[in-house]
Amino acid sequence: MPRLLITGGTGTFGGTIARQLAESGVTGKALVRGPDRAESLSDLGFEIVAGDLTEPESLPAAIDGVDRILLWSGNDPHQVAAQRTLIDAAVAAGVRHVVMVSAHSAGLTPPVSFGVAHHAIEEQVQRSGLSWTIVRPYLFMQNFVRFALKIVSRGMVIAPVKDAGIAMVDMRDVAAVAVRALTEDHHGDKTYEVSGPEALSFARATHIISHVTGKQVTHINPPRILTGLLLKTMTDLSSREIPLVLQLFDSIRAGDQDRVTDVFAQVVGQIPRTFDDYVREHVEVFGG
Ligand SMILES: NC(=O)c1ccc[n+]([C@@H]2O[C@H](COP(=O)([O-])OP(=O)(O)OC[C@H]3O[C@@H](n4cnc5c(N)ncnc54)[C@H](OP(=O)(O)O)[C@@H]3O)[C@@H](O)[C@H]2O)c1
Repeated sequence: MPRLLITGGTGTFGGTIARQLAESGVTGKALVRGPDRAESLSDLGFEIVAGDLTEPESLPAAIDGVDRILLWSGNDPHQVAAQRTLIDAAVAAGVRHVVMVSAHSAGLTPPVSFGVAHHAIEEQVQRSGLSWTIVRPYLFMQNFVRFALKIVSRGMVIAPVKDAGIAMVDMRDVAAVAVRALTEDHHGDKTYEVSGPEALSFARATHIISHVTGKQVTHINPPRILTGLLLKTMTDLSSREIPLVLQLFDSIRAGDQDRVTDVFAQVVGQIPRTFDDYVREHVEVFGG
C-alpha cells in the first residue's frame, strides 16, 4: 500500500482526487494551510497535517513516512516557488515518486499561458532524481463556463477562438489518471496528456448546451481586445489571470488542443466522459 501525501486537497480538483483515492481504498496524509477547512478530507480518512508550501520548515513533518506525493496547488502567483519548495523537501526526505498535475499548455513550444509556470515546475520535477508522472490536462470542462465568460444565462458564450476544436476533458477523468499514477507502479517518468473523447468547436459545445437545457445559447467571437474588457467586467478572474486566459484562447484558436489523446483509455481502461454527459449532469450550472 503506498504511503501518500496529497496537496491542494481543500480545492476543487485536489478534493476530487482525494475522493477518488478514498473510493479506491487508499488515503494518507493531506497537507493543508487551514486544518479547520479540511473536515471533508478527514471524513474521507486522510490524516490532516498543517503546512504551507511556501514555508519550507512546515514540510518535513508532512513528508515524514511518505513515499509518494501528489503535487497540486492551483495557479496562484506563488505556484512555482511553492511547488519547487515541496520538490526540494521531497528529495531531501527520500520520497520515491511524485505525481505533478500540470497543464496542456506547459507542453507547447514555447509553453504559454498558465503553462509557463507549470513548465518551470515540470523541469524541476524531471531533474530532481525522483521518479515522476506529469499529468497535463486539456481545458477542464468545469472551466469552460468560467473561461468562456459566465453568461450562458444570457444566451451567449464569448470566446475568441473562431471555429477551432478543443478536446475538453472532465476534471474527474483527469483525477482518475492521477489516482492511477499515485497508486500503481508502472507510471514512472511518463507524461500523460489527458484529453476528452472529442474535439468540439465552441459553436458545437453551445449547440449541445442549447439542446440539453432547452435554452438557446450562441457562441460569440469578439475581437481579442474586447474579450479582455469583457473578462474584466463579467468574470471573477484577477488582473493577473486575464492576460493568461487571453493567451489560452489564442492557443485554442491556433488549434493547440484539437487533438484527441487515448491516455485516459490507456491508463484507466474506460472511455472518457463527453461534454454532452457533463452538461446533462450539470444542467443547473447552465441555467436549464
Ligand atoms: N486543464 C485545466 O483546465 C487546468 C489545468 C491545470 C490547472 N487548472 C487550474 O486549476 C484550478 C482549479 O483547481 P482547484 O479548484 O483545485 O484550485 P483551487 O481551488 O484554487 O485549489 C488550490 C489548492 O491548493 C492549495 N494551496 C494553494 N497554495 C498553497 C500553499 N502555499 N500551501 C499549501 N496549499 C496551497 C489550496 O489550499 P487552501 O484551501 O489553503 O487555499 C487549495 O487546496 C484553476 O485555477 C485552473 O485554472 C486548470
